[in-house]
Amino acid sequence: TAKKLKIRECSPKFANQRVEVYAWIHHNRNQKKIVFLELRDGTGFLQCVLAGDLVHPSIVDKLLREATIKIVGTLVVPPPDKKCPGGVELQADYWELIGSSDPDLEGIINQESNVDQLFDQRHIMMRGTRASSIMKIRSLCLFAFRQHFFENHYMEVTPPTLVNTFCEGGSELFTVDYFGKPAYLTQSSQLYLETLLPVLGDNFTITQSYRAEKARTRRHLTEFLHLEAECPFITYEELQDRIEFLVVDVCEKLYKMDPELILSVNPEFKVPKRPFMRMNYSDAIEYCKKNGIQKKLEDGTEVDFEFGDDIPEAQERKMNDQIGEPIFLCRFPAEMKAFYMARCPEDRTLTESLDLLMPGVGEIVGGSMRISDFNELVTAYKKAGLDTEEYYWFTDQRKYGTTPHGGYGLGIERFLTWLLKEEHIRNVCVYQRTKDRITP
Ligand code: 4AD
Ligand code: MG
Repeated sequence: TAKKLKIRECSPKFANQRVEVYAWIHHNRNQKKIVFLELRDGTGFLQCVLAGDLVHPSIVDKLLREATIKIVGTLVVPPPDKKCPGGVELQADYWELIGSSDPDLEGIINQESNVDQLFDQRHIMMRGTRASSIMKIRSLCLFAFRQHFFENHYMEVTPPTLVNTFCEGGSELFTVDYFGKPAYLTQSSQLYLETLLPVLGDNFTITQSYRAEKARTRRHLTEFLHLEAECPFITYEELQDRIEFLVVDVCEKLYKMDPELILSVNPEFKVPKRPFMRMNYSDAIEYCKKNGIQKKLEDGTEVDFEFGDDIPEAQERKMNDQIGEPIFLCRFPAEMKAFYMARCPEDRTLTESLDLLMPGVGEIVGGSMRISDFNELVTAYKKAGLDTEEYYWFTDQRKYGTTPHGGYGLGIERFLTWLLKEEHIRNVCVYQRTKDRITP
């Protein structure tokens, strides 16, 4: 009897043995008397040869791309000059169709399809070699992040995403009708993570966040996977060290898990070197002035940035690409940042905040130390126009055993876009959520 194997298990270990494989037809090459199939089952790819009665004209048409089949045959090690994934080839002696396919598939998406047509067919397009590799890396990436956190004794939290308070400012909120009262889809789980500090100490979450982003850019989604962590009793410097350790450690872990897979998608991938460059916001303004990176006014004229200006995405990326390595952008002016950020002791107009910028993508992490003083927080609510009543549970953290603490959020899709050197963030989403797309 034949041994039932996943493609991942098909290796020279089973050479000359009869095996049974269940898979999708990834690709087929019909040479009349002999048919070469490339099979795919999510665990890998397998080359397969069918000949003789197995490719009789009456049945050969059924071997269509994306059909599912059961194949039985002998695994053989091909001559060294023939490259086969997994180092083996299946010489079939039996096959049977499980689910048929349709030749119209070739017309649905092909070389001529535009981006919209491709993403309307995301469910099909995802089966492609590159897209399916990215989905695997996405899975391994989440595993690597969790591994990092558990190894370093963080606890995982999964807070609700339906909320009645906001974290990052009101303009990008999705409102939902919660039994007659307005509620929001969360922008960030940070405030809840802070309440878990006295319960769990260092903690993290990997949870969806939502932003009603109207801008159509190649790095903005309306729903994204947000990795956030919060740590008690740390300093601003320790916060930076922890983020740097996270990024480098996860890159190393991920690369070790499957170097071939990573390199097949991004042949230039290299684990970044520590320490990352640290640059104050004020230095970035100076950098832009010195290097001809300017802000565009509404009438199109270009002028130098001044302290207090937000450096927009394009200019930020230009600076990042010129420098060509990861940058911690630190100490933003308080007016530019969220209400909860702690002030710098040496200059109270600045915050102990940071963005981590990566070449090609820009910001992948945003974080800060948090206001830990009760009165200072209440003042900050007022300044931001927030209803203090709604935040009673957040304020209580400063009443019952406050601590200096800090944390950050990392966009999983931003991280993958950088790591895989993808042109557009949509390519690393399972199903992208952007202003123009909610299907499929
Ligand atoms: O910088 P942000 O807005 O920070 C926060 O939400 C903090 N509350 C996080 C925290 O400290 N716990 O978002 C954090 C990260 C960004 O750096 C970016 O990687 C990602 O979330 N992000 C987005 N990713 C895709 N599409 C969007 N529209 C995103 N908005 C933020
Ligand atoms: Mg940010």
